[in-house]
Amino acid sequence: AIDAVGAREILDSRGNPTVEVEVLLEDGTVSRAAVPSGASTGAFEAYELRDEDKNRYLGKGVTKAVEGILDEIGPAIEGIDATEQRVLDATLIALDGTENKQRLGANALLGVSLAVAKAAADSADLPLFRYLGGPNAHVLPVPLLNVINGGSHADTGVDIQEFFLVPHGAETFSEGLRWGVETYHTLKGILKKKGLATGLGDEGGFAPELASNAEALDLLLEAISAAGFTPGSDIALGLDVASSEFFENGAYQFEGKSLSSAEMTAYFAGLAANYPLVTIEDPLDEDDWEGYAALTAELGSKLQIVGDDLFVTNPVRLARGLAENVANSILVKVNQIGTLTETLDAVSLAQRNGYTAILSHRSGETEDTTIAHLAVATNCGQIKTGAPARSERVAKYNELLRIEEELGEAAIYAGSSAFPRYTA
Ligand code: PGA
Ligand code: ZN
Repeated sequence: AIDAVGAREILDSRGNPTVEVEVLLEDGTVSRAAVPSGASTGAFEAYELRDEDKNRYLGKGVTKAVEGILDEIGPAIEGIDATEQRVLDATLIALDGTENKQRLGANALLGVSLAVAKAAADSADLPLFRYLGGPNAHVLPVPLLNVINGGSHADTGVDIQEFFLVPHGAETFSEGLRWGVETYHTLKGILKKKGLATGLGDEGGFAPELASNAEALDLLLEAISAAGFTPGSDIALGLDVASSEFFENGAYQFEGKSLSSAEMTAYFAGLAANYPLVTIEDPLDEDDWEGYAALTAELGSKLQIVGDDLFVTNPVRLARGLAENVANSILVKVNQIGTLTETLDAVSLAQRNGYTAILSHRSGETEDTTIAHLAVATNCGQIKTGAPARSERVAKYNELLRIEEELGEAAIYAGSSAFPRYTA
């Protein structure tokens, strides 16, 4: 049972404060979790509580969230059995009492929810993926490596936020990761030779100033080939458009033009015809349900259409997507919804209905590696956790290498099976 709950303000990878929680169980187990934070956040995400005190951390302090954990949440959950995750999370949600967790903050609730799960796993002497997933947790995810950063993660003219390498053709996770790393380093050399910047964006990808979004895809193709791989069958490409960020006055302000959803859809159809794209996240605005349904009807049989800002890991929004044939995949971010139970519910709702699920980091991260475990626990087959650079990104990849080693012969790599373009 939970004996005591501690919390503190620490820093995330952007140097902004975030919440860290420590849970002590009666058997002496102490476990810790830290909470990530987004920049291009969806309007429908659970509430991130910040102090708004301009005299500390430019208003971004989280001492109110920490105090809520120490004064209210801790005393309310002491005595709950740490293995009763659903009871715990229901207690947290009821204690907060608001629709989007704005009283105590989703950042406070999530820190506690994850720390308790880790404590239960540690107390049972099991790795988190095994504790949560049981004996059938054995699928290592394909990494979606975000190696070129644009949009609101970089200060360049590139509108699309993320360009992924998808090494689905490898035999194992570690091989796929190595292919991605070799291509990443090769890409750096190519950028240098062309006189383009090799500084890094928030998620560890390069952030060069480019003439168009397609130029980023051309650079990736060049890097894949130069690194000795076959674009498409070995390493495919993916995008996170994060289009809510440039949807203004009812239109998409894209590459200097003002486009409708139909015009954006035609643009993506053109990209899919010319590049080995397998996945496009947030191609349209988070409230453009009709545009999304049309886009999904046109592109969904070939491409994974991923809802991030659209679904915000929320089972209610996902259920609407399922009913209206909107997208065919959900991005899963623990802090968009605020408890582990709701996160796992979103994943299983997706999986039961033939949607894929992708475990994801945030652009503001910490050394916490929980999402690596969640990807394996749910056998979801895909993880998005940035470029293979910057320790807060690499920490997740390194944890997956450890999990792969621990699983040994039982480990399988999701590979191409997740992508209709290469399995249909
Ligand atoms: P965020 O970006 O963490 O800044 O929201 C990641 C994403 O859009 O997938
Ligand atoms: Zn996204």
